Amino acid sequence: MRAAHITALEGPSAIEVVERPDPEPGAGQLVVAVESAGLNFPDLLMTRGLYQLRPPVPFAAGGEIAGTVVAVGDGADFAVGDRVMALIGFGGFATHVVVDAERCVRIPETMATDVAGALMYTYATSYHALVDRGALRAGETLLVLGAAGGVGSAAVEIGVALGAEVIAAASSPAKLEFCAELGARAGIDYTREDLKTRAKALSGGAVDVVYDPVGGDLAEPALRALGPGGRHLVIGFAAGQIPRVPWNLVLLKQCAIVGVAWGAWALANPKLHAANLAALFDLHAAGKLRPRITARYGLDQVGEALRAMASRDVKGKVIIDPRT
Ligand SMILES: NC(=O)c1ccc[n+]([C@@H]2O[C@H](COP(=O)([O-])OP(=O)(O)OC[C@H]3O[C@@H](n4cnc5c(N)ncnc54)[C@H](OP(=O)(O)O)[C@@H]3O)[C@@H](O)[C@H]2O)c1
Repeated sequence: MRAAHITALEGPSAIEVVERPDPEPGAGQLVVAVESAGLNFPDLLMTRGLYQLRPPVPFAAGGEIAGTVVAVGDGADFAVGDRVMALIGFGGFATHVVVDAERCVRIPETMATDVAGALMYTYATSYHALVDRGALRAGETLLVLGAAGGVGSAAVEIGVALGAEVIAAASSPAKLEFCAELGARAGIDYTREDLKTRAKALSGGAVDVVYDPVGGDLAEPALRALGPGGRHLVIGFAAGQIPRVPWNLVLLKQCAIVGVAWGAWALANPKLHAANLAALFDLHAAGKLRPRITARYGLDQVGEALRAMASRDVKGKVIIDPRT
């Protein structure tokens, strides 16, 4: 097998493709031949040891995979040839992975394997955020920051599917065009326009829910666009700075700042997570979600893919296809 190993915590340049012996499954485990591994922001953070998960160097990044089962350990309820998807934390930028069978989900017949490798991390996060944490209702206005990115584009599509009026906010006209294709009703280029003023104007006064994976200087103006009963969903800090928002704003706005930690939630609530995945599969089968894979990279190009993410050059989802 081959794997794109991070050899030092120095960013995307310190990655080397190495040959390793083919893995064997232990009891209750599967070996999966990876066909699609979604690229996510935590993969980038891991190249510098900045993510909460810090495996010992060398290791491969890649937290979610989809592929075909090639070996089955004792007691694992799968067969060779099954198509599966799994969240694995790291190790997915490789031709093969060993996974506990209980972490694996069969890919629905209606879903292509490459899409399955790009779906779980972002769509399950955004579904949990909007439905469980944000209680988003049809007819409400949803403002999505970083709306052309991985979790952002998933939030746009899910928001539209749930009947919300979605305002996309992003850093370029090309990104906003992409968001319009996903169903956003309006767009704000926050590099040129005042986020609070435009969001209020476009929503007819105030927005109901903010989906915020960016943080930094955008968090406060987004919060200020909320009306009474509004919810600001804290997803992440892609901008690199954790915002400090004046506490009195929450009182004056009569709004809530709501934290979202999907990974920890999914581990603690496996049945609820499974129900959310089933809801996402239904929405996908109904044609309401169409994850956009906008770029594909081979194992030798993992560093290049991570550099594109660091320079904000990514739209929708990027996958690593280790077969190439
Ligand atoms: N809380 C949770 O459960 C959870 C789950 C998954 C991911 N996350 C977090 O969500 C965030 C986004 O993840 P993602 O996989 O969607 O990443 P992504 O695809 O790279 O999207 C991030 C977006 O943030 C914006 N951005 C603003 N400043 C940036 C900067 N300095 N560098 C890079 N992007 C910047 C970019 O949009 P513009 O160029 O349009 O500004 C970009 O499209 C990350 O912080 C991640 O850790 C949280």
